[in-house]
Parts: sequence; C-alpha cells; structure tokens
Amino acid sequence: MSQVLDETLSPRQVRRDAESLATWGRDWTRSFEVAPSAVVFPESVDDVVALVRLANAEGLALVPSGGRTGLSGGAVAGNGEVVVSFDRMNGILDFEPADRLVTCQPGVVTQTLQDFARDRGLFYPVDFASAGSSQIGGNIATNAGGIKVIRYGLTRDWIAGLKVVTGAGEVLELNRGLVKNATGYDLRHLFIGSEGTLGFVVEADVLLTALPEPQLVMVLGVERFRDLLAVLGQFQSALTLSAFEFFSELALQKVTAHRELARPLSGAAPFYALLEFDESALDAATGAFERCVAEGWVSDGVLSQSETQAENLWQLREGISESIAGYTPYKNDLAVRISRMPEFLDEVDALVQQSYPDFEVCWYGHIGDGNLHLNILKPGDMSQADFFAKCHEISPRIFTAVAARGGSISAEHGVGLLKRDFLDYSRSPAELAAMRGIKAVLDPNGVMNPGKMLPPA
Ligand code: MLT
Ligand code: ZN
Repeated sequence: MSQVLDETLSPRQVRRDAESLATWGRDWTRSFEVAPSAVVFPESVDDVVALVRLANAEGLALVPSGGRTGLSGGAVAGNGEVVVSFDRMNGILDFEPADRLVTCQPGVVTQTLQDFARDRGLFYPVDFASAGSSQIGGNIATNAGGIKVIRYGLTRDWIAGLKVVTGAGEVLELNRGLVKNATGYDLRHLFIGSEGTLGFVVEADVLLTALPEPQLVMVLGVERFRDLLAVLGQFQSALTLSAFEFFSELALQKVTAHRELARPLSGAAPFYALLEFDESALDAATGAFERCVAEGWVSDGVLSQSETQAENLWQLREGISESIAGYTPYKNDLAVRISRMPEFLDEVDALVQQSYPDFEVCWYGHIGDGNLHLNILKPGDMSQADFFAKCHEISPRIFTAVAARGGSISAEHGVGLLKRDFLDYSRSPAELAAMRGIKAVLDPNGVMNPGKMLPPA
C-alpha cells in the first residue's frame, strides 16, 4: 500500500530498509512492537500537504516523528504506518529581535534553539535532559515541560504562532506571532499537546526572553518525603526559584554509579532537593537553608562554587532517566495541585510500599510543579511481560488516588500508547466525547497517529 508514496515524494525521501524502520519507528519506550511500513522525510510544507492528502485518498496511517525521545509511545509505529520524520525540516527561518521571536521548522533540535537564542543575548528557557536530541515539533506535540517550569512555564507558554497541516490536508496559520488576538477560539493551543492526532506542526513562532543572571545550584538532604514541600515553601517565600527538583536515595545511587559521579553530601539522606536560583538571591537562600535545618527538614546541603560544579550537581538529577533505562522501568508521571501534594505523597508512598515490596522504586521529579516521576524497576530475572502485567494491575490504585484529587495521570510525558487506556482517570466522559469531536473535524478520516492518546470509544 505504501508504494504510492514513491509517486508523491522523490526516492531519497523514502526508506524501507529494516534498520530505518526500527530506528524511526519508535521513541525511547521499549515495550511496544515496532512495525512501520515506510519512513518518509518531507522537505517542505508542500511535501507534508501532499503526504496528508495521499494518506486520506489511500487510507494510509501517518505517525509523526521528531527526536524520538518520548516516553509514552506517542511516536511508535506498530501497525504498518508510515512514519513522517521532520529531520530534514530543521531550519531556523527567521528571527525578529523587536518581537523576540524565532520562526522554526519542526525538526530544529531544542538545544540548537537554546544556542541560537544565547548567541543573540537571549534565552529559550524550556529545558530538559533530552534537549540535545528532542525537536521543537515534538516538544509542541507533547507540550514538553522539564526542569525550569516553576519559573518559566511549559512549551505552550513560548509558542506565539503555529503553521499546521491538519489531518484533512488544510494549512492553518494560527495566531501569527501576535501577543493579543481576541478573535475567537485559539486553535494554536489545541494543537499544542495533541500528540500528532490532529495534524502536523510545520512551522512555529517561538518566543525568547532576557538571559537570566548567573545561576547557583544547591543540593539539600531531606529527611521525609513531605518535608520536601515544607522546604519548597520556605525557599519560595524568600526568593524566586528557577528550579526545584527532587530525587530519592535510590535514584542517586543509580545515577552516581551509571555516570561515575561523586555523591553530593558526605552522608546519605532519604531524599534530595536540587534548587537553582539567581546569584543575587544567595543571602535569601542561605537564610532559608538555615531555617530548614533548624526545623529538622534538611540534614545537610551543598552550594555550587563554580559553573562546572553547578553542571555536575545538575547531572545528579538530569542523568537519572538515562541511568535507569536499562531496568525497563514502568514509568508513572503524576501531577496534583501543589496544595494537595503533602497528603498525596503520603498516600502514594504507602501504596507503593504495599504494592511493590519486591521491586526497586525510584522517585524523582519536578516537585515544585506538583509533578512526580515514579519509576518501578524490573528485577533482572523477571520477563518484561510479567513485569508490565503486574504494574498494570497496581496502576489503577495509584490512578484512583490521583483522580480523587483531580490530578493528572500524565503530567508531561503525554498519553501516547502507555497511558491511553487509563485516560478516563483524568478526563470525564464528556471531555473525551468533546476530544473525539475535535479529532473528527480536523482529522475526519483518522489518518493522524491513529490509536494514540484517545482510548477506543
Ligand atoms: C525527567 O524528568 O527526567 C524526564 O521527564 C524523564 C523521565 O521522567 O524519565
Ligand atoms: Zn520530567
């Protein structure tokens, strides 16, 4: 069926060799079958329009592919789909200093945009460990968050305009970089976070901001899970934080072993908080630290003395995901409102201890955003199928605790395939029906990333 592609694109834009299918057919998840029929590399908006129209005419299923760093299977092609890679639409098209706006193609790598901004004395603040390979199009499709959300917000907050090709093959120019635009539904925001189910992003107007002053990093040893929130409150009442991350002692052990890093403190603590803040806030941070020690929430701490030391401390947090990848982790990416965090942490902690007595449980995340990453590690002697079946049995109990607090079963990794069948823990039947209605308008023949995000009706 996908042979018709050869009449639409040139031969250099279509690959069907086994290695390409395996590479472009998957993301960072390793638990889904990968079986695309072809990988195509559009080089222009016209190519994308032609592909989508062809898919509608011939009944092809299209799966968008960016940097393939997703963690929920949103970019996995397991059913003979055609993978549409944006690797060759990777140009920065325009920069307007007066607007602080960069117009990018979707295949621009996050770090390339960050460097582009810095070279012009500006800052693109959305950041995460996979910035060296994730692409702007994928970040938009998943509304990527990361490590600076507490100060700068999500990808959504930095997108001032989008050009998209809908699943019907129409080109829409959404918001065109305007700051104010009160002319009805803001369709731009529908596409942000839609996981490629409504159309393809083919251009984005991305906002930049002023460079912050130099940053300092502190790592604190914290005695109890819920004390992390008290520490957050104490620091936030004294200064503006650029980041407030946490990880458990097990996460620290995994990352220090994997990356051969030094431990940050002389002793061990059950949990660690990593804080980043402006250099000029040092006195306020020192005062907050002393109060946390006096309260018994923090046992010890270290402050970066140089940029290199700050980078090394950041590795302790940013390297965790990679260091546990070999354990085929079952990933949970949960969110509740910050005010509901303390008792949510207590309940989830108790549930996990009860439910997974035989598994290693690795906690880390963006606690300053109310976002917990709960990773269950597969024991070496257990099959992947048995392990995932066991985790799936327990997930509903955790998701019930999330739902009871109006939380989210996927804070920032997206729904994809991994969380699709649990979506009703976070979305009501009426919301799901509205989402299906929107999909039917923008992708009437269901060619865009079928089977992802929305559970079967
Ligand atoms: C992180 O916070 O490190 C990323 O979301 C990746 C992950 O959760 O594994
Ligand atoms: Zn994260």
